[in-house]
Amino acid sequence: MEIFHISAESYPMAKVGGLADVVGALPKYQKKAGHQVQVVVPCYDTKFKNENKFESVHTGNVSLGNFNFPFSVLKKTTDDLGYELYLIEINELFDRPNVYGYEDDIERFISFQIATLDWISTRNTVPDIINCHDHHTGLIPFLIKYAYKYESLRSIKTVLTIHNGLYQGWFGFDKLHYLPEFDLMHVGFLEWNNSLNSLAVGIKCAHAVTTVSPSYLNEINFSANGLEPLFNSVRSKSKGILNGIDFEVWNPAQDKMVVENYSIDSISKGKEINKEKLCQQFNLDSSKPLFSFIGRLFEEKGGDLLPQASALALADNFENLNILILGSGNAEIEEQLLQLKNEFKGNYNVFIGYNEELAHLIYAGSDFILMPSRVEPCGLNQMYALRYGTIPIVSRTGGLRDTVIDFGDDGNGICHDQASVDDICYSINRALQLYEDKENFTKIRKSGMETDHSWERVCQEYIELYNLIIKKNEI
Ligand code: GLC
Repeated sequence: MEIFHISAESYPMAKVGGLADVVGALPKYQKKAGHQVQVVVPCYDTKFKNENKFESVHTGNVSLGNFNFPFSVLKKTTDDLGYELYLIEINELFDRPNVYGYEDDIERFISFQIATLDWISTRNTVPDIINCHDHHTGLIPFLIKYAYKYESLRSIKTVLTIHNGLYQGWFGFDKLHYLPEFDLMHVGFLEWNNSLNSLAVGIKCAHAVTTVSPSYLNEINFSANGLEPLFNSVRSKSKGILNGIDFEVWNPAQDKMVVENYSIDSISKGKEINKEKLCQQFNLDSSKPLFSFIGRLFEEKGGDLLPQASALALADNFENLNILILGSGNAEIEEQLLQLKNEFKGNYNVFIGYNEELAHLIYAGSDFILMPSRVEPCGLNQMYALRYGTIPIVSRTGGLRDTVIDFGDDGNGICHDQASVDDICYSINRALQLYEDKENFTKIRKSGMETDHSWERVCQEYIELYNLIIKKNEI
């Protein structure tokens, strides 16, 4: 079957969070399974764009009311990613270094969606499936169904995958005229709580809606930033499909970004050498357990809990542990984390920013990964950690609930119920006890490494879903 994935992010072209990892990997495994797969993302000014070759395969114009933006569709000339990558180049809107955070984000992503569909409607073949990801592509299912100019695309079945339902892409009806002409009878699909809500539009109009874990699907029926009743009403066409991870990229036995490769049989020695390097680099004490956090420093991820939890854990057990944080986000949290550096020199460090290579070394060299998220639609870091024999410490929410089971219940990690400073510290204490019990500690590490969260296995679930909607219209 022919599948298009349309997204704001895709690794390695442009990454802000886990969305990029999923859109950068799932297509590769769908292609390996014998399907024809294309990925379409906006053409940002990123390192990957500048270091790779692309050819122009189509040009056109998007009009947004009175604005007119010329665009080109660029195709990556080599297919070393494992699928075809297309970039929608609209220089006025996307020739910028960041993916999000501009005042005209609404104009940017509406244009991206229109340009993509304009181009697809000029191709000789019509794809079977368009898989949209998050609100930036939420208008596509509506446009395919109702915009006059996309009549030729009506047979395409659409799936909206929700990676994060908190962000919804709201805008006012004053921008309604940006959309290509459609039968006004259907204007109701665009509205939610008196505004245009891109995510809601996608949820209403897609043939199927997926969330990135089964538990998150249950949770958004009660907590979805205002969309709860909508999620309830589309339950029958919704499915939670747990993300996978790319076992080729995330493989401690072959990972070029770590210092020492290791497998389950050489785990202790391998992790020790990586830890040694990491501790040297960040002035930490390699003879003590190392707890790390990797991610965006926002409340949603429990980032605001980290400064206090770190200070308490280090004050109580100063001689007993190290904490290392890699991330960026909320300026206040960043500042609080930086301030702790002097107080706990030798046992604590923080790197503000993101660095893919360093992330790999942290998974390889840490003993525990902290994920105190309040909301976690899936979470990939706990899966990377498990793959690298690093024990995840998580709050029981969303995908964390589906992937990490407490070692007290014969599981692969450490779990607590509340995203709170107390719960984090309680879990850190349990982790310290576990660390002393070398036999059990090694057993749990190894059981993590044995968990199979590969896309190879998971991607089949998407294909089954696509097949169902191709046959039945909805699941
Ligand atoms: C978003 C979610 C995260 C999920 C990722 C990939 O970043 O917050 O939980 O793992 O998307 O689906």
